[in-house]
Amino acid sequence: MLAVAVLAAGKGTRMKSALPKVLQPLAGATLVERVLASAKNLQPERRLLIVGHQAERVEQTLAHLSGLEFVLQSPQNGTGHAVQQLLPVMDGFAGELLVLNGDVPLLRAATIDALVEGHRNSGADVTLLTARLADPTGYGRVFADSSGQVSGIIEHRDCSEEQRQNNLTNAGIYCFNWAALAAVLPKLSTDNDQGELYLTDTVAMLPRAMHLEVDDPDEVNGINNRKQLAQCEGVLQQRLRDYWMDEGVTFVDPASCTLSEDCSFGRDVVIEPQTHLRGCCSIGDNSKLGPGSLIENASLGARVDVVQSVVRDARVGDDVSIGPFAHLRPAAEVGNGCRIGNFVEVKKSRLGAGSKVNHLSYIGDASLGENVNVGAGTITANYDGVNKHQTVIGDHSKTGANSVLVAPVTIGDHVTIGAGSTITKDVPSKALSIGRARQMTKDNWANRST
Ligand code: UD1
Ligand code: CA
Repeated sequence: MLAVAVLAAGKGTRMKSALPKVLQPLAGATLVERVLASAKNLQPERRLLIVGHQAERVEQTLAHLSGLEFVLQSPQNGTGHAVQQLLPVMDGFAGELLVLNGDVPLLRAATIDALVEGHRNSGADVTLLTARLADPTGYGRVFADSSGQVSGIIEHRDCSEEQRQNNLTNAGIYCFNWAALAAVLPKLSTDNDQGELYLTDTVAMLPRAMHLEVDDPDEVNGINNRKQLAQCEGVLQQRLRDYWMDEGVTFVDPASCTLSEDCSFGRDVVIEPQTHLRGCCSIGDNSKLGPGSLIENASLGARVDVVQSVVRDARVGDDVSIGPFAHLRPAAEVGNGCRIGNFVEVKKSRLGAGSKVNHLSYIGDASLGENVNVGAGTITANYDGVNKHQTVIGDHSKTGANSVLVAPVTIGDHVTIGAGSTITKDVPSKALSIGRARQMTKDNWANRST
């Protein structure tokens, strides 16, 4: 049997944040969610999360995950104290306990699988992940012989100058034989620089402690401060871009673009500089995004071109051109072959195939048919100060420049609206509707007598 416990009770003092450290986001997911995901493959019998600092907030954030047992550590007196809280909860449990630090988010599932498998094969009391780091500052140092047997771990701040020269570091990821750990946990002392109970001290108390060194030291990056958060974001972003480049996506300037894990791309998508995709996005073949665009929770079809624009919570068909400087807001649904031009905002509106909104418009709470041509500066006045109302425009209709369509209003098919009109009443199909003051011209005005 396997249980997984994630240490997530710490405050994260060095982050200097109102947010508990394990809730800091990395490529759109919190640290603790990433840590939990890295152990998902193992299908453990029990998943425990040790919470303490802002416990309620952490629990609320993770409420959507099923089968997670929250264990309270209060006060937070170190990683050993955190795991001591499992003693009553896991009484009688037979099997392994995998302990994961909640601030080590880049572990690959395969690495954790290898740790558990290696541990089971060797029959050790504990097996821990280690890495040789070029700069081990801040990490616990692992003292081991050439056969992989570990004699102990000493925290950076408790190390002598000589001990600090050892660059074999503790990743904070351990597979314990639970019964063996449970026997030594009560013996921990606070005899160290921080006066805390250290989980790392259990390693020297267990007769057979082994370590497994990871190939890619980036995997065991721990996050204690904002600089390390940024470094991990960089590693994760590079992993994502490398993956998608292998899958046929072109990045013109990869380092200037960011992705989320929930993005998917067709073939021959080109991503121009300074373009960012967040949340759940899907992008069809041959689309071109950027430069300078933000796409969030959006689905775009094939051959969509987005230039210097923001697209959020929107759905876009094939062969659509967006921007420059367009803003598609939540529930914008843009049909095939549409064109959304510069300084156009679309919210909660459907645009039928082939419709065009080329310049300076606001389209909100509207339903446009096919091949509608929205003239420059056309606005749907959807809000009466209290409620939002619908504008409906039929197929093949045109609005003249600077029209205001005061909702609720329905405009039929093949309608023409004269430029500068304020339309407050429904217009039947095939009609011309003009709603503006008649032009008055006075001849020879310049020569008038005074
Ligand atoms: C820890 C290890 C260190 C290792 C490093 C790897 C110890 C004593 N040291 O140091 O050897 O190299 O991780 O990143 O374990 N936490 C609790 N309750 C507490 C204190 C901490 O749940 O009372 C949680 C934190 O939320 C965090 C994790 O434990 O997720 C690690 O704590 P942290 O204080 O960051 O330990 P490090 O100093 O990084
Ligand atoms: Ca840490």
